[in-house]
Amino acid sequence: VAALEKMVVVGAGSVGVAVAYASTIESLADEIALFDIDGRRAEAQALDLCHGLQFVQDGGRICGGDDLALCRDADLVVVTAGATHPPGGTRLDLAAGNVALVRRALPPLLDAAPDAVFLFVTNPVDVVTYVAQEIAGPPHGRIVGSGTVLDSSRLRYLLAGRLGISIASIHAMVVGEHGDSEVVLWSSATVAGTPLLDVVGSEGASIAADELAAIHVEVRTAAYRIIEGKGNTNLAIGLATTRIARCISRDERAVLPVSVRAVVDGIGEVCLSLPSVVGRTGVLSQIDVPLDDAERNGLRASAATLRAVIDSVGS
Ligand SMILES: NC(=O)c1ccc[n+]([C@@H]2O[C@H](COP(=O)([O-])OP(=O)(O)OC[C@H]3O[C@@H](n4cnc5c(N)ncnc54)[C@H](O)[C@@H]3O)[C@@H](O)[C@H]2O)c1
Repeated sequence: VAALEKMVVVGAGSVGVAVAYASTIESLADEIALFDIDGRRAEAQALDLCHGLQFVQDGGRICGGDDLALCRDADLVVVTAGATHPPGGTRLDLAAGNVALVRRALPPLLDAAPDAVFLFVTNPVDVVTYVAQEIAGPPHGRIVGSGTVLDSSRLRYLLAGRLGISIASIHAMVVGEHGDSEVVLWSSATVAGTPLLDVVGSEGASIAADELAAIHVEVRTAAYRIIEGKGNTNLAIGLATTRIARCISRDERAVLPVSVRAVVDGIGEVCLSLPSVVGRTGVLSQIDVPLDDAERNGLRASAATLRAVIDSVGS
C-alpha cells in the first residue's frame, strides 16, 4: 500500500513536532502539514523540518500555518492540540478545557477532510476520543486514540532491562485508561511465546510479584517524572503516534492497544485502550485477549473512572 498522500498534524507544539519529525523520517506521507492556531509557530516548525529533508530518504513536502486549507482532503489527521498538565496535576484535570477545544476545532476539520482517519493524542486521550466520536458519528473506528501504545512501550522497555532480553522479543500490553487506572495484562504477556510470568531472565533471575508491581508503578508514573524534569513528554509519544500512523498509512493491521469505543456491562459506553487491529481505515476489529480476575476488575474500574469524567464534560 502506498504512503499517505497527505497527513496533517494539528497542534505544532512539542508533541506535534515530534510526530511530524518521526513521520518525516519514516516517509509516511507525500505531504505533511502542521496546522496550529499559532500560525507563526507552525510555519517555523515546518521550515525547520524542511531544512533537514536532504538527510531523509523519500522526504515529501512539509508545510505549516493557520490556514484550514492546509487540512483539505487529508488522509490522516493527528490531533495534538491542547493544554498539558502541569507538575502535580493529572491528565484527567485537562478534560474540561481540552474537550471544549475539540468541540470547537473538530467540526471544521471534519469538513475539510471528510474521508480522513483521525488519530487523537490530546489528553485525557480516552475522553477526548469519545467526545470526538460523538461529534463525528459512526463509523467509530475512524476516530482512534493513541491510548496505551506509549504505556505499553514503557512497560516493554522496563521488562527488557529487567530480563536482559530485547524489547522486540517481549510482548506485553497496558490496556484501559491512558492514565492512573491503566491495567497491565500480565497473564497474557509472553517472551517468545512463553508466559512472561514463567520466564527466567538471561541473568538467571525470575521476576517476583513485588517487582512486577514496582514496574507497573514506574510505567504509571513515568509521565509525571518526565514532566517534573523537562516540563512535558514529547519524544516517545511522537514515536508511538508515528507507529500507529504507520499502521494506518500502510494498512498494516498490526494489533495495538489504541483507544476504542467499548460497552462495559453496568457502566455503559466509554473509549479505552483494548488490543485492536489497526489499518488504513482506522480500527478494524478488536482481539479478545483472555483476562484473569484482577485484570477484568481493573479494566472495569478504569472504565468507571473514564465514564465519570465523560459524564462530567456532558457527553
Ligand atoms: N496521549 C499521550 O500519550 C500524550 C503524551 C504527551 C502529551 N499529550 C498531550 O498532547 C497535548 C499537546 O501537548 P504539547 O506538549 O505538544 O503542548 P504544547 O503546548 O507544546 O502544544 C500545543 C499546541 O496546540 C496548539 N493549539 C491550541 N489550540 C489549537 C487549535 N484549536 N487548533 C490548532 N492548534 C491549537 C497551541 O497553539 C500549541 O502550539 C496535550 O494535551 C498533552 O497532554 C498526550
